[in-house]
Amino acid sequence: MARLGVNIDHIATLRQARRTDEPDPVNAVGIVERAGAFGIVCHLREDRRHISDRDLELIRRVCVSHLNLEMAAEESIAAIARRVGPDVCTLVPERREEVTTEGGLDVAGGFDQQKQIVAALAPIRCSAFIDAEAEQIRAAHEVGFHAVELHTGEYANAADEHARQDQLRRLAEGGRLAAELGLYVACGHGLTYRNVRPVVELGVFEEFNIGHSIVSRAVFTGIAEAVREMVRLVG
Ligand code: PXP
Repeated sequence: MARLGVNIDHIATLRQARRTDEPDPVNAVGIVERAGAFGIVCHLREDRRHISDRDLELIRRVCVSHLNLEMAAEESIAAIARRVGPDVCTLVPERREEVTTEGGLDVAGGFDQQKQIVAALAPIRCSAFIDAEAEQIRAAHEVGFHAVELHTGEYANAADEHARQDQLRRLAEGGRLAAELGLYVACGHGLTYRNVRPVVELGVFEEFNIGHSIVSRAVFTGIAEAVREMVRLVG
């Protein structure tokens, strides 16, 4: 059975919309773990648009499962990672103007920089968030990444069934190559309740990292109870 990592960034996004103290992503950790997730994923972005340094510290303290920290290949963030000690660091490309992580990391084109950051993070194991391209997968292996997370964004955004099938084939081939090289193989980005099954059925991914869709669903699965509680208070 594949593992589910739950990205809790967008709980913090909702808090930051009001710059208040709720909802607190730290409070989600135990609930997510008790619901059966393999682990918690969060992204400490350089602009701190959702998860803050305080969040990461507290998430590490209360997380009893597996903590995967997404981060840019930047020494200032690596220093925080070394202090906090996540179980895995997933290196992702990061641009300030993007809404979310767009495209995979260019490991092949930034070989030396990636090697340096992986060495700087040791003994924390590192995963590379990359497109399902043989060149990137081989480069991630050579750099010394322990894992790869293949980017499912193009699959999620495929315009039609033909394009979706092409992307599924690409993910399957990439996943198989990574496994042959001995890498732990995860995937994520843009996966939803509607599109995840065909990727699961490829049978090549050991881990799925999903955030936005789960947080979005939680708003609706939880809103009836939230309203009932407030009705009691105002009644
Ligand atoms: N994996 C990585 C590396 C990501 O950057 C993200 C987005 O933060 C996710 C998975 C989760 O993507 P989504 O929120 O679309 O499920």
